[in-house]
Amino acid sequence: MHVDKYEQIWIRISIFVLVVFTLAVLTATVSAGIQVPGVEGRVDPNLITTPGASPWAEPGIRELAPGKYEAYVLAQIWVFQPNEIRIPAGSEITFYVTSKDIQHGFKIMDTNINMMVLPGQVSKLKTTFDKPGTYNVICHEYCGIGHHTMYGQIVVEEVAAAAAANE
Ligand code: CUA
Repeated sequence: MHVDKYEQIWIRISIFVLVVFTLAVLTATVSAGIQVPGVEGRVDPNLITTPGASPWAEPGIRELAPGKYEAYVLAQIWVFQPNEIRIPAGSEITFYVTSKDIQHGFKIMDTNINMMVLPGQVSKLKTTFDKPGTYNVICHEYCGIGHHTMYGQIVVEEVAAAAAANE
């Protein structure tokens, strides 16, 4: 079969680009720890605030072990509950986020946490906060007239300060 010279060149370039993209994705996954937000599960948005029916009835963080937390965050127009999360530096925290009403976003600045939040669906991502400081959480999916006011904060405290606060 005869393939035109230019056709061959473009086929080679296309294959080369695919190989580069595949390597870039693998590098990001393995060395930079970038994860694709997974659908962790489903939840009935009508029962979301019913005590006992879902963990989002009491949104907040739970300590699983020293330095290991999970956070149940509920998004709704136009707030995140809880609005502020405080953890000691070096903590690993897994976020389980869902929405009570419409589509929202959940992005924590300066981390790899960036998820879409949909009613009925649980979005899950894990990260470790090594550096103390205040990390803003923003909604980055347009959700109506108050969208730009929808934000929260993760406060990562110096370990000594966190220990003193808990005494
Ligand atoms: Cu919630 Cu935009």
